[in-house]
Amino acid sequence: MNNWLKITIAGVTLSLSGLGLAQTVTGDPKAGESKNAMCIGCHAIPGYKASFPAVYSVPMIGGQGEKYIESALNEYKKGARKHPTMRAIAGSLSDQDIADLATYYSQQK
Ligand code: HEC
Repeated sequence: MNNWLKITIAGVTLSLSGLGLAQTVTGDPKAGESKNAMCIGCHAIPGYKASFPAVYSVPMIGGQGEKYIESALNEYKKGARKHPTMRAIAGSLSDQDIADLATYYSQQK
């Protein structure tokens, strides 16, 4: 009885905080900066080419529009954009991660 109650309460709390997130996803550039560690290896080097699965030129994303970066990451996540590496990376990001990273990169030069 006690255990059942606890589980129910945890479930309610979870779905409530999930709802709150969906309504207020605002990018935090400071948080984005700490999340970009896995992006800089490819995106911070001008003219850098990634060699998997073929040789790709890696676009510079710093200074691009926040909305553009956000929608690009969502398109990789949903599969509308096909690049396998970016799909795997975007698939591991939450909506909050994407918002933070988009805000951070749009403020870069
Ligand atoms: C292994 C190398 C690699 C890593 C790591 C990587 N990317 Fe990418 N990214 C690419 C390549 C290559 C492309 C171009 C893919 C294509 O042609 O669709 C790309 C494309 C993008 C685009 C679209 C740019 C445009 O001009 O349309 C965005 C936005 C992006 N990456 C964001 C990120 C973010 C944010 C991270 C970190 C969470 C990240 N990437 C990590 C290689 C990488």
